[in-house]
Amino acid sequence: MIKLTDRLQKIADFVPRGARVADIGTDHGFIPLWLHLNGISDYIVAGDVNSGPLEKMKGNLDRIVGGCPESIVMRQGSGFEVFREGEVDTVVIAGMGGRLMMDIFEADRAKTASLKMMILQPRKEQAGLRKWLFDNGFDVYDGSLVRESRFVWEIMAVRKASSGTTIPKQYEVNEAILKRRDPLLRDFIENRIGVLNRIAEEAEKSASEVAADGKSRAESAIKMLRRLITDNDL
Ligand SMILES: C[S@@+](CC[C@H](N)C(=O)[O-])C[C@H]1O[C@@H](n2cnc3c(N)ncnc32)[C@H](O)[C@@H]1O
Repeated sequence: MIKLTDRLQKIADFVPRGARVADIGTDHGFIPLWLHLNGISDYIVAGDVNSGPLEKMKGNLDRIVGGCPESIVMRQGSGFEVFREGEVDTVVIAGMGGRLMMDIFEADRAKTASLKMMILQPRKEQAGLRKWLFDNGFDVYDGSLVRESRFVWEIMAVRKASSGTTIPKQYEVNEAILKRRDPLLRDFIENRIGVLNRIAEEAEKSASEVAADGKSRAESAIKMLRRLITDNDL
């Protein structure tokens, strides 16, 4: 058996038993291996755009389980290139920027639309990603926060939107995490306010209309986030 880091464990915990999974940007390959060893999935495509991570993964599989199990397929390629439409129903993408995730979805809209579920852990651009998902027929219905290497990371559990999906009141914070008043949420929001403050300061240095617009958007997001902290007693 292997022990995952808290971040990888929280990601893996969202994968439903019986799912056919693609782990995009698998790197070390620990998520596919854990899903296999715990009987969560018997079909896992481990994809990475670079050969180095796949070699690292192969080394890990050799060392831990004596080779690549039948249920895991390792493929080199960018984004969803590594699986055929219908081959998997669940995708994990962790440790990449939200913009790169959106680029991956936009590069293959048919495969994206064919998925039942995605578990995403963006390193940044969470708000933009959440808006993209809503605009493109997905619902961020759950999630969690985890602290790793000084930062608090968000994990988004995403499924196809249904008639019960409501328009999000805001895109900055995961509503399910807010409802639970996760103890890490205050730190997560404070960190985001820091990023938005830097955006506003940078924009202030430029005289352009675009910068003025960026500054005013950052400032209203900061106000909204401060209100979330007070209103929810975080
Ligand atoms: C920071 S690592 C994250 C590894 C792992 N998912 C995790 O969360 O611990 C990012 C990985 O994504 C891979 N990657 C970057 N862009 C990619 C793309 N467009 N398609 C597939 N993999 C990509 C990199 O080669 C690297 O192995």
